[in-house]
Amino acid sequence: MKISIDSVKVVEVGPRDGLQNEKVTIPTDAKIDYITALGDAGLRVIEAGAFVSPKWVPQMADTAEVYRNIPKDPGVEYPVLVPNIKGLERAIEAGVTSIAIFTAASDTFSQRNINMTIDESLANYVPVVARAREEGIRVRGYVSTAFGCPYEGEVAPEKVLEVVARLLDLGCYEVSVGDTIGVGTPMQVQGVIGILLQVVPATRLAMHFHDTRGTALANTLAAMEMGIGTFDASSGGLGGCPYAPGASGNLATEDLIYMLDGMGLETGVSLTKLVAASSIIAPYLDHPLPGRYLQACTRGQVPATSSSSVQ
Ligand code: HMG
Ligand code: MG
Repeated sequence: MKISIDSVKVVEVGPRDGLQNEKVTIPTDAKIDYITALGDAGLRVIEAGAFVSPKWVPQMADTAEVYRNIPKDPGVEYPVLVPNIKGLERAIEAGVTSIAIFTAASDTFSQRNINMTIDESLANYVPVVARAREEGIRVRGYVSTAFGCPYEGEVAPEKVLEVVARLLDLGCYEVSVGDTIGVGTPMQVQGVIGILLQVVPATRLAMHFHDTRGTALANTLAAMEMGIGTFDASSGGLGGCPYAPGASGNLATEDLIYMLDGMGLETGVSLTKLVAASSIIAPYLDHPLPGRYLQACTRGQVPATSSSSVQ
């Protein structure tokens, strides 16, 4: 295995991608405590919620209250998802400094998720990004269904490249390439990244894997071999998209950090504190968290304290 990167940036998406699919209403205070604990664990980018329609995603309805009440750590960025200008206005009102806009590599998913085709969504984001820039707000981009669509099946890597390039042209500082329904496999991941890297520098790309079929860590390693150093993950393996049937949890942040610690790669994240953060949100869910490291901890098979030097 040839890995040339020496540090990895982890974008924690548990409080947004993780919680958005939960059916039980999670108290706002629990979300705030969870986000605070994730920051205490050393995560430097924590997606705090989504200013989407509360009719479409009820669990994110309290994002403004969550955002306002997080005791902000000056070293931590707290991006929120914004689907349109109304979402941006709500974000500005809440004092947000970093947003993520999101589209897809397949039109049917885009329609089901945001009621817009890919082209319509990108046109809709032009004024969003322009206004965000005026306000000094950083903008990240997401491309969903980059490795397969729940409605259309296979997705052409060239389409992924086209959408990534258009998001970067719009002004996104980074684009997260998403395996929304967790169908990707390592060679496929390297194939898609190889095509992206012909045009886009690795430093402008992040990978967003869901672990639906158990390939998220293998896909992460495959992406690292291609020089990618930014990965989205969700504490405890929380997650799913309400408009992607069959999508399950994201790559668990604990599993990612455990692997990276073992490889001697710097992340700045304490596994012990990360487990503590997941344990804050776990009691509010109506199911166990699927993350493997966390489950091994709860079964007492590994000490909550990692053998790693990063604490
Ligand atoms: P629409 O129904 O076409 O929108 O939804 P509309 O403009 O016709 O508005 C309908 C109603 O929603 C109106 O209210 C608007 O005011 C309101 P009414 O008059 O009926 O009372 N509305 C809003 N309210 C609050 N905030 C807003 C907003 N916009 C409109 N921003 C819309 C279009 C985009 C709003 C909707 O489809 C939506 O919110 N979709 C979000 C879906 C979502 O959050 N999905 C999960 C995130 S994506 C994901 O998980 C994938 C990712 O993790 C990467 C990966 O895994 O690949 C990122
Ligand atoms: Mg996702």
